[in-house]
Amino acid sequence: MSSISSIQESQIIAALSTVMDPDLGKDLVTLGMVGEIAVDQSGNVSFTVTLTTPACPMKESIKQSCIAAVRAAVPEAASIEVKMDSKVTSSCSHHGNHGGHHGHGGHGAHGGHGGHGAPQRIELEKVKNIIAVASGKGGVGKSTVSVNLAVSLAASGAKVGLIDADLYGPSIPTMFGLQNARPELSEGKLVPIEQYGVKLMSIGFLVDNETALIWRGPMASSAIRQLITDVDWQELDYLIFDLPPGTGDIQLTLVQALPLTGTVIVTTPQDVALADVAKALTMFRKVDVPILGVVENMSWYELPDGSRDYIFGRQGGEKFAKANSLDFLGSIPISGGVREGGDNGKPFIISNPDAPTSVAARQVAGEIARRISLLNATCTT
Ligand SMILES: Nc1ncnc2c1ncn2[C@@H]1O[C@H](COP(=O)(O)OP(=O)(O)O)[C@@H](O)[C@H]1O
Ligand SMILES: [Mg+2]
Repeated sequence: MSSISSIQESQIIAALSTVMDPDLGKDLVTLGMVGEIAVDQSGNVSFTVTLTTPACPMKESIKQSCIAAVRAAVPEAASIEVKMDSKVTSSCSHHGNHGGHHGHGGHGAHGGHGGHGAPQRIELEKVKNIIAVASGKGGVGKSTVSVNLAVSLAASGAKVGLIDADLYGPSIPTMFGLQNARPELSEGKLVPIEQYGVKLMSIGFLVDNETALIWRGPMASSAIRQLITDVDWQELDYLIFDLPPGTGDIQLTLVQALPLTGTVIVTTPQDVALADVAKALTMFRKVDVPILGVVENMSWYELPDGSRDYIFGRQGGEKFAKANSLDFLGSIPISGGVREGGDNGKPFIISNPDAPTSVAARQVAGEIARRISLLNATCTT
């Protein structure tokens, strides 16, 4: 039985060059995703496939396609082992290709507050992607979506940070059960508080609510800026930015200053009809920030028998996305457990990982990660 395998590495490469990345439209070998090919004496084949995000929704199907292709090419293989790895790609904004951040200093959207012209750009060298989560108004679940997106990406293996920029109602400390946490200082920078694998920073960690409440205009903007620049984030694959609700000066300044990879718009089925969402859209389009898509929150309530009660109407978010030529990223149902999850200091994805709400939130996270990879492929290749 000590026969030496005749399987050649070139056969494995040939087989894997027939496996396509469905999004990037090229084969895995051309994309440089295949590495560490090994064939031992008994004919055990192993190799590594490095995807552009650990949260890739197609991870399992790509893996199965690899196995099938290699199995077909070298039926004599004793075993086929695929190691799925990832290396998150960087936003196009790192490549000086942010297009459109010019020429918007003149219109009056933020005149009268001393904020003429584009604000100074914030650079975060070690952060590969910054995702802003926005909504037209408060209370639609923007923070809930941000938190579960962050935790979900971290659970998949990504390095993730989360900023709570809601000066007037920071909710992230409560949602993570960290009301009394205070960040330490290290070499003049704040050390983010880590929970469930996510690095957190919130205005709520730094000042009491009364102090934040008196901030307006430029002061509020500079406070938010500090949450980004005065924090020792280290290396991050994704930095999620839970934007303050609305479309005022603070939001506009932020989206202009940050090298955003893209933004996610959260709505509920019934609030898509409101002018606020349209305003948020207009703002992002004006400053040319890519809109990754729309997430519908509180889409339905799942009854004990598994049927769905569409309390706020059906598919408002999806229709809204379609009407505005945006991608739809998914729906997250209402859960009795969500409120508890939010209030007892555990994101529902942690407290109740198998609930429909959590399953949906993970799907949304995968979809967002996938679209970021796609977007980044337009500037890295
Ligand atoms: N899918 C959901 N199901 C049930 N309750 C939710 C859901 N999403 C958010 N909530 C609750 O709605 C309230 C507002 O959510 P939050 O995320 O704080 O909104 P925002 O950040 O947009 O103001 C919170 O009490 C939260 O727990
Ligand atoms: Mg919020």
